[in-house]
Amino acid sequence: MSGRIIEFLRNKGNFISGEEISKSLGITRAGIWKKVEALRQRGYLIEAVPSKGYKLLNSPDIPTKEEIQAVFKGDIIGREVMFYEKTTSTNDKVMEIGADGLDGTVVISDSQKQGRGRFGRDWISPPGENLYFTVLLKPLFPPKEASIFTLMAAVALVSAIRGYAGLNAVIKWPNDILIRNKKVGGILTEMKSDMDRINFIAIGVGVNVNMSLSMLPRGVKSIATSLKKEKGKLVNRVELLGEILRNLEYWYKKVLAGKKKVLLGKWLYFDSTVGNKIKVKTQGGIISGIAEGISNEGGLNIRLFSGRIETVSAGEVTILKK
Ligand code: BTN
Repeated sequence: MSGRIIEFLRNKGNFISGEEISKSLGITRAGIWKKVEALRQRGYLIEAVPSKGYKLLNSPDIPTKEEIQAVFKGDIIGREVMFYEKTTSTNDKVMEIGADGLDGTVVISDSQKQGRGRFGRDWISPPGENLYFTVLLKPLFPPKEASIFTLMAAVALVSAIRGYAGLNAVIKWPNDILIRNKKVGGILTEMKSDMDRINFIAIGVGVNVNMSLSMLPRGVKSIATSLKKEKGKLVNRVELLGEILRNLEYWYKKVLAGKKKVLLGKWLYFDSTVGNKIKVKTQGGIISGIAEGISNEGGLNIRLFSGRIETVSAGEVTILKK
């Protein structure tokens, strides 16, 4: 109900009488007053004037369902949003709801108790500062093509950071988002599939938005950054998320329509890996060579020093000095 009141106040943009809200939403005027008080506790600035009614002056920068859907609600991405103040990991939530959830559902949490990165690392997830969310996707694709969705998320993230925050973010294959060579965001993709068909994919995204880097453990601090640090001022989480979701919707529709090549082109435009001398830590060991490009499935093509091209589908890249 609080959500409906906010939606109402937002749509109106001006004063709206208690009577009008009461009639439209079917609650008593005392009930409205209570809800308004609760909303104020959550950080909403709502003016109340006896003869005029209520007016929304400001919303808190908390990515709740109402706030997110006020800035973006796609045909697919974000048509369902689940917000938690705290959860273990948004990827865990999506893996739980997976089969029953709607394609494009966004699960977001203000903080995570067990935020996970790739290779079993922790993803530091304090409240009130950053973005932690997971998008549930159910493309009718074979599992070998799943990597394309990680690349898609990286493109959406970089486009949004460049467009909204005006910062020169780039991608390091497959899923690191860097600014000035420091990590500002990452993507953790998990999947449930049959032999020939994806059941669902969980695309988990973490972005260091306004976090102070002193919160990070030693060792991570020197290789990470945040949008606030790079921009020198706070970045609005809800609006940034709206941009990310808008981009995700755009690219998801393109990929579903068979326009994978267009996405790969955009990915290469944002990429900072290809053309460099690299080493990749894979499950099968370390591979060194020159990053030559990406395969149609989203793997990294590496020209080994023997001249042979090898494609890796997962791993951790280190860019070596030229
Ligand atoms: C990485 O770069 O290692 C991937 C980091 C992914 C972090 C996000 S935060 C939201 C989602 N939930 C998690 O537990 N992890 C991902």
